[in-house]
Amino acid sequence: VPELAYQNGKILPISEAMVSVEDRGYQFADAVYEVIMGSQGRPFALQKHLNRLHRSMSALDFPELSLDLVKEGILKVNEASEIPDSVIYLQVSRGNQVRSHLPEREMNPVLTITVRRADETPVRPLSPGVSAITVPDERWGRCDIKTVQLLPNAMAKTRAEKNGASDAIFLGPENVVREATSSNVFIVKDGVFYTHPLTPNILPGITREIFIQSQAKAGHEVVEEIFSVERLLGADEVFLTGTITRVLPITKVDDIPIGTGRPGPGAAAFLELLIEEIRTQK
Ligand code: PDD
Repeated sequence: VPELAYQNGKILPISEAMVSVEDRGYQFADAVYEVIMGSQGRPFALQKHLNRLHRSMSALDFPELSLDLVKEGILKVNEASEIPDSVIYLQVSRGNQVRSHLPEREMNPVLTITVRRADETPVRPLSPGVSAITVPDERWGRCDIKTVQLLPNAMAKTRAEKNGASDAIFLGPENVVREATSSNVFIVKDGVFYTHPLTPNILPGITREIFIQSQAKAGHEVVEEIFSVERLLGADEVFLTGTITRVLPITKVDDIPIGTGRPGPGAAAFLELLIEEIRTQK
């Protein structure tokens, strides 16, 4: 079975799935997306992704699109692929029209879904750690909406690669640590987890949310507060979280070793919890 796409209710090879040159996603980045992990043949945290998709579409005043239909499409194409550990990508653009900044009033959103084999199974040991650089956050003011407008993210990732690092961490004014190019950022200091609060400047990550909620249930608070790069550099641990990233220890930032320079117990605990959630997904 090839890696598959879903378009207009049909399943087809990815190479045969096409969108119009007048798709507003193509011309204006007027589109939103989700990346979902398929594990044991099932989409992980599907309802959370659907809720966030709905939130993104509402924030941009998109025409209505049935979430039941989206869900059905995801399940159908993921099942048809028969890939146990998959990466499900879905994109919804506002629709097609003759190029004009002003969107037409009545539009039909364009939904496309692809399913590919994940590079690695999500149930695997913690990475030995990678390095990151910091870059000024040059993105727009609504990073809480998951749009496909990812050029600054792609440029920052390229800059990281040129500097021999794995990823880039965006810094806001006054060197506030926001997030990485496709992950949220956590630090650990004296056994306490800290991460940026939910504001328009970061994506409300689902991996982030799963961890914060499960910590709360266990009576441990994750402190959601603004902190600067100095606190990140002085932290015991730094790690990234995300659907594809899972939990990734950052052992060096801008060539400065973090803590012991090795992955710490905080990241290990987070990963254990995430794997348990994936294993026992309902
Ligand atoms: N990115 N922050 C940004 C900017 C992201 O793009 C992502 C996800 C996250 C983590 O969110 P979640 O835990 O819901 O995956 C944080 C996806 C995976 C991507 O663009 O490939």
